[in-house]
Amino acid sequence: MSSQQPTKDISAELEYQARHAAAASPIQKNSPEKIARYRECRNHRADRKEYTFRLIHQLKPDTVLDFGCGDGEICVQLALLGYQTTGFDVSPEYIQLAKERARVDGVEDKVKFFVADGSNVSIEEQTFDLVLVQLVLHHVDLRPCLENIRKHVKPGGRVIIIEPVAYSATLRWLRDRTPVEKDISPNERQLTHADLKIIGEYFTIHSRKHFRLFGRLDRVLPRFLNPLLLKLDALLLAIPGMSHFAAVTVLFAERPA
Ligand SMILES: C[S@@+](CC[C@H](N)C(=O)[O-])C[C@H]1O[C@@H](n2cnc3c(N)ncnc32)[C@H](O)[C@@H]1O
Repeated sequence: MSSQQPTKDISAELEYQARHAAAASPIQKNSPEKIARYRECRNHRADRKEYTFRLIHQLKPDTVLDFGCGDGEICVQLALLGYQTTGFDVSPEYIQLAKERARVDGVEDKVKFFVADGSNVSIEEQTFDLVLVQLVLHHVDLRPCLENIRKHVKPGGRVIIIEPVAYSATLRWLRDRTPVEKDISPNERQLTHADLKIIGEYFTIHSRKHFRLFGRLDRVLPRFLNPLLLKLDALLLAIPGMSHFAAVTVLFAERPA
């Protein structure tokens, strides 16, 4: 595996991620109940993570690349579910946490981690059945990263991209004025229709599922309401046109052969 040194203009992003990694809670071993939850995915209609795991189980990929894996939570859970997973991130501090996570869960032999910048990563002579990109593209320059995602997917292989979106100008306006403290990195933004169009230049998008209408209030409402908010979201998002107001999308796409 090789990667060039991170370019200078992401130094602020690196500093932000290092601060967050340092403040992360101690790593907890995954419980059997948690892993059973992500194996069964009973709540896949309302819960974004279960929806994503269900897509992965339907694909049954032999190899998965987690592009911008953060602290490695998903990689380790996938390894516990039997998948061979590789994860990388631009933040050395997060990769250290990810390695620690793999050790705590006893899956060091099933998951590899390394540090790289997604805009110039190169994993020599390796392509994957599935590349998972969760909450990363809204931090980076789209085209160089999309180029590298495509380079690492087998022809005909699949890509799952999960990103925050802001299609509605009114919601963007409201979001900028809500008195909720925003903890966002210097490069962070929400994707728009124009960004999704760019993604469509690199991959054939098979489906687009939306999440989070009222669920975005989970930071200000009591925690016990979260399951209810997710169910309400799922009901409302089934109504045509409501996805315009969603906060997150999951794209299921294919690298053309
Ligand atoms: C919101 S976190 C998501 C992490 C992980 N994918 C998850 O879902 O838990 C965004 C991640 O993108 C990583 N990131 C930002 N810019 C990157 C880049 N140029 N190359 C690779 N990773 C990057 C950050 O270090 C951070 O770990």
